[in-house]
Amino acid sequence: MTTSSGKQVSFWIDSTPTTAYPAFSNRLSVDVAIIGAGIVGLTAATQLKKAGKTVAVIESGHVAAGVSGHTTAKVTSLHQLIYADLIEQIGEPKARLYGESNQAAIEYVAALVEAEHIDCDFSRQSAYTFAEPDSELDKIKDEVEAALKLGLPASFVQETSLPFAIAGAVKFDNQAQFHVRKYLLHLAQTLPGDGSHLLERTRVLKVEEDDLCQVITEHGVINARDVIVATNLPILDQGLFFAKTHPKRSYIVGAKIDPAKAPEGMFIGSGKGSHSIRTTPHEDGLLLLVGGEGHKVGTVTDTEACYQKLETYVRDRFGIDTLDYRWSNQDMVSFDQLPYVGQLTPLSKHIYGATGFSLWGMSKGVMSGMLLSDLILGKENPYAELYEATRATPFLKPDLIKNGMDVAARWVGDRFKNLQSSSLTEVSKGEGKLLTIDGDKIAAYRDEEGTVHAVSAVCPHLACIVSWNNAETSWDCACHGSRFSCDGKVLHGPSVKDLEQQTIS
Ligand code: FES
Repeated sequence: MTTSSGKQVSFWIDSTPTTAYPAFSNRLSVDVAIIGAGIVGLTAATQLKKAGKTVAVIESGHVAAGVSGHTTAKVTSLHQLIYADLIEQIGEPKARLYGESNQAAIEYVAALVEAEHIDCDFSRQSAYTFAEPDSELDKIKDEVEAALKLGLPASFVQETSLPFAIAGAVKFDNQAQFHVRKYLLHLAQTLPGDGSHLLERTRVLKVEEDDLCQVITEHGVINARDVIVATNLPILDQGLFFAKTHPKRSYIVGAKIDPAKAPEGMFIGSGKGSHSIRTTPHEDGLLLLVGGEGHKVGTVTDTEACYQKLETYVRDRFGIDTLDYRWSNQDMVSFDQLPYVGQLTPLSKHIYGATGFSLWGMSKGVMSGMLLSDLILGKENPYAELYEATRATPFLKPDLIKNGMDVAARWVGDRFKNLQSSSLTEVSKGEGKLLTIDGDKIAAYRDEEGTVHAVSAVCPHLACIVSWNNAETSWDCACHGSRFSCDGKVLHGPSVKDLEQQTIS
């Protein structure tokens, strides 16, 4: 296997200190418990604490080191091509609210950065969705027309600072980009104190709702009147959000670029297989970030090839031969293109969540944090109804769910039919393989020293079979996106449990 160049870590994480907030122990009571210290959780916690509530943000790993720490960090209401579609699907008034709510998120971040002097490389930028072939031009023009109708800052352009020709682009003025982790670490450090807490290395196992909610963690119980589940896909299965979304992985590479040759602005291509492009300040000047090669979790066998394709793209389009960074991310794509934000179910009056950002989680994450804090504070929010998490999802028909489950089951079954290997000797160094040993489905990885790590191949969430991700040396679950390290430790929910260890003689 050829490996692409670049350090395998998110630039945002590599260029900021590791946090060391305490783990939880014993008991605690707060007004609001927030599960997950990413952009949703930290925005909501900031708002709630400012409004006088006591909060506990509970993070299984470290602050802003999950999905929020692996984004492209564009804060924009230009979400590739969406407005013409939204007008058709949900009508102009609702499409207008979608645009407005994302614009409001940009302005929220801008105002906070200014008010609190947050040193996070925040800058106003134009955002572009560009078409390369002429055949895509009509879609671009339709999008400009739709966005203008909704009052968004759109225009049609045919010239950009990209080093290659385009047919045309939608341009949104006055959008923004930042260093997401510098921004979130600032929010995090304002939280502890005056009855509020930020807890790391504390996994939440479940939440029980009665008069008070009980947040059951691996280290004890936190009592709270309200709970926000801000874990990308809610770790609680209430609300069936795993059936209203699908998990998508995407890849990003970073390479130093001569500032004189760097494009100005934030870009994304219009079609399938498009690339996301922006730059960010770096200690040596500028880093070009290129994202793409997205796919549903578990559907690409050679994930390493995704990085190689991005490396080739950077070489062909920007003339840069060596990468400095490479990392990947995962988000939940909503079936109706709108995120789900609010009470998890009509019955769970005090448990809230947000998911389904469809890879535009910076603006939607901030918007969700603002909305959830308003709901808990009993404040009117103009976007509450549009994003209601309990809304009927038009595409969520019983036959579609069944079909999806059948496909997953068939796919899982087929993989095992073809992989009836039953011996660990068939697993080479650096390789992960599914095996059937004594009737048990085993996921086995042999490390570079030759040691085999054998775990159950059955995902503890809802029992789908995991698949090997060679680029990240992880076991990924195609059904709802849980991920596990090569030795079975949970890396990404909704699973809160590790893959079961297996001893094979
Ligand atoms: Fe749901 Fe694996 S994530 S079954």
